[in-house]
Amino acid sequence: MWAAQHPVPLPATSGKSRFESSRIAENNVIPALRDVMTQPMNATGGYEVLPFVADLYDHVPPYVNRPDVAFYVERAHSAAGPTLELGCGTGRVLIPTARAGCTIVGLDLSPYMLAKCREKLAREPLEIRRRVRLVEEDMTDFGLGETFALVTTPFRPFQHLVTVEEQLACLQCVNRHLGVGGQLIIEVFHVNPKRIVGAPSTEEAEDFAEVELRDGRKLGRTSRITAYHRARQVNDIELIYYVAHPDGRTERHVQAFPFRYFFRYEVEHLLARSGFRVAELYGGFDKSPFADDSPEMIFVAEKTEDIS
Ligand SMILES: C[S@@+](CC[C@H](N)C(=O)[O-])C[C@H]1O[C@@H](n2cnc3c(N)ncnc32)[C@H](O)[C@@H]1O
Repeated sequence: MWAAQHPVPLPATSGKSRFESSRIAENNVIPALRDVMTQPMNATGGYEVLPFVADLYDHVPPYVNRPDVAFYVERAHSAAGPTLELGCGTGRVLIPTARAGCTIVGLDLSPYMLAKCREKLAREPLEIRRRVRLVEEDMTDFGLGETFALVTTPFRPFQHLVTVEEQLACLQCVNRHLGVGGQLIIEVFHVNPKRIVGAPSTEEAEDFAEVELRDGRKLGRTSRITAYHRARQVNDIELIYYVAHPDGRTERHVQAFPFRYFFRYEVEHLLARSGFRVAELYGGFDKSPFADDSPEMIFVAEKTEDIS
């Protein structure tokens, strides 16, 4: 875990793009850097041990522009009671939900993501802050002493649960926190077959064009799949952040984690074993029907029975 928590800074590359930085990482024989080429995997995504993720999360364009917020706000608004968001992170969805007048509890394992969420909430008016409670818990093992009308998992925290035992443990906890008729929204990506086969990659692919942050830092990110474990339905992923400081220093940070992928009927079976039935299934946040080329699998499940 050392290397992931203490990334080796690249030589200063003032004026160079991160791709030049990336080429240095790949081609130069820098022994210390070679050591971090493939990072130790962190089963829960590394959010709770890598402070840089929370620092940079709200600046990552694909996260900022993710078209899911209105979907979740609307669901929370039409729910007949409070919402529980599992893996709430920095509050990307939670804060707009509270702004829309909904009461919401945000649960996350990462103190860094929660600290960022608290920092953002502190800038909100009191009436909005009053609607929010944050708890540092594991989504596979929690007991909050209250029930909700809706439980959500925006932006795929469920895919950090790599084993069936973890998935069932999470669903059992959710079952305990909903009344019969309460709803759970499970969101996972729809598997692209091309993304689950191939040779482990040392090549980094650009995730988005470099952006400038308000404090003058420049942020770029690449990613790669370092292993395909098809028997376990897991890809080992590396998200590689390049931060260029105004003084010319350049940092390279790696978030490495195993990511579970799911197939449609597998999720339906997991839900059935956990006291739920699928009430709605969408292929995107525009509520398009789930189809062959859908980017997402969004299950709106209804609790049918108590299982514990
Ligand atoms: C991709 S982020 C999503 C954050 C937020 N829901 C959003 O939409 O921006 C995944 C979050 O899941 C959290 N997470 C991962 N495994 C978890 C677990 N076992 N229990 C609770 N939170 C977990 C991480 O700490 C991280 O904040």
